Amino acid sequence: MKSDTRQDLRLNPEKLPAHVAIIMDGNGRWAKKRLMNRIKGHEKGSKTVRSIVTAARELGIGMLTLYAFSTENWARPQVEVKALMVLLKRFLVSERDELMARGVRLNILGQMEKLPEDIQEEAEKTVTLTQNNQGMALNLALSYGSRQEICAGMQALAREIKAGQIQPHEITEEMISDHLYTRQMPDPDLIIRTSGEFRLSNFMMWQAAYSELFITDTLWPDFTREEFIEILINFQERDRRFGKVKCSTSNDGSPQ
Ligand code: FPP
Repeated sequence: MKSDTRQDLRLNPEKLPAHVAIIMDGNGRWAKKRLMNRIKGHEKGSKTVRSIVTAARELGIGMLTLYAFSTENWARPQVEVKALMVLLKRFLVSERDELMARGVRLNILGQMEKLPEDIQEEAEKTVTLTQNNQGMALNLALSYGSRQEICAGMQALAREIKAGQIQPHEITEEMISDHLYTRQMPDPDLIIRTSGEFRLSNFMMWQAAYSELFITDTLWPDFTREEFIEILINFQERDRRFGKVKCSTSNDGSPQ
């Protein structure tokens, strides 16, 4: 494991987010700025994936979710979709040993059945191989869309109602959470989006109810371990109230 740097020491290991999710954006702009093909941006972005997964594991983050391919991304030019699939496959195969060595467990969130067969096979192999690892969970959101996820979950609940297994008034928030790809996972405490856009882009809309959001102008291929740690430090300085008031106020709301 990497030795602590001065920066790492500013992080409080007791107050780390249990689940960090990242909307990796800006690969195309990174390439355009360098007069390169967009695919070069995705290639450089894959290297960032590797370094941030390593950093998250070393820092002791319990769960990292990366938004790698959305349901909307299928509408990109075929050549770009194909290139992204090649990079995903390469990651799933080449990182297998590394994930095992570092005790990382891989999960896929999204419409697995929509992915090309070879990717499904490689993903299944890596998920099965790493399923008992206890170090960190790495979720790759692939062909993932929050609306599609909620829609599929509601269809499943409707089927249970139709089969008489539950009554409509018995539906709880926990039951809805349990019908999403993220079932049994903690909601993200922190969602980071690179490249400066202030939107969720159909990502974890149910799960993000109380997530802290951090938007950085840095383009994903330029995102570093150092900036990741600065964002985690910023997270630790935030006051999360989950819609409640601070403990230092009395029950009638007046400050104590
Ligand atoms: C957004 O940048 C990024 C994506 C749609 C794909 C993310 C994929 C990778 C980082 C590489 C492969 C992933 C793994 C897990 C190995 P954009 O193309 O929308 O950028 P732009 O907004 O600047 O055009």
